[in-house]
Amino acid sequence: MKHSLRIAPSILAADFMHLEAELCKCEAAPADLIHCDVMDGHFVPNLTFGPPVIRQLHKITKLELDVHLMIEAPERSVDAYREAGAAAITVHQEVSPHLQRTLTHIRSLGARAGVALNPSTPLQAIEDILDAVDILLIMTVNPGFGGQQFISTMLSKIQQANEWREQGWANYSIAVDGGINPETTPMVVKAGADTLVAGTAIFKGDVTANIQRLREAAAC
Ligand code: DX5
Ligand code: ZN
Repeated sequence: MKHSLRIAPSILAADFMHLEAELCKCEAAPADLIHCDVMDGHFVPNLTFGPPVIRQLHKITKLELDVHLMIEAPERSVDAYREAGAAAITVHQEVSPHLQRTLTHIRSLGARAGVALNPSTPLQAIEDILDAVDILLIMTVNPGFGGQQFISTMLSKIQQANEWREQGWANYSIAVDGGINPETTPMVVKAGADTLVAGTAIFKGDVTANIQRLREAAAC
């Protein structure tokens, strides 16, 4: 199945003092999802926010919350993020020894189940559990920080993931995260990505115009 293009602003790059205003701009643009980067200071060096902030965001936006958990033992917290209002929950393969169980559990809570792969993690790490995956989040930078440079060798991983989908082995949405901007967008979309996560390229400057620029770049 072909998935339609979705733009997911990552609020990591937003103005945290004015999150409500930033979310309003995303709704007006419109964006399709709000990408929330949860970091624990262990799996990744950075530390961000947890369920209380997700709960507050859920109260003030109509957009679906796409929660990207960059935390150790994510299976311990998925219930809390779902209760807080997450529509999609993505865990990292590298910290999920029982990945199929975790993804199935996320689905049983009524959320879309996502798995994220670090740049050094091969796609083959998930090939035996493709039917449990709603979202495949291909990291195009090493997770932990916004504003990093796109790793172009990830293009072949996106292509391979898309081939699996075209062959009918998978029906996931292919999301890309890290260094996505109007220059890198045509490459990732051509390779098969359908969901573009972007922080810096959206929140630096005019949010509405930046989202429009990404859509135009995706249509090239
Ligand atoms: C990185 C996060 C990203 C980050 C992307 O670890 O998962 O979602 O916000 O930021 P940019 O778009 O600035 O590369
Ligand atoms: Zn992210």
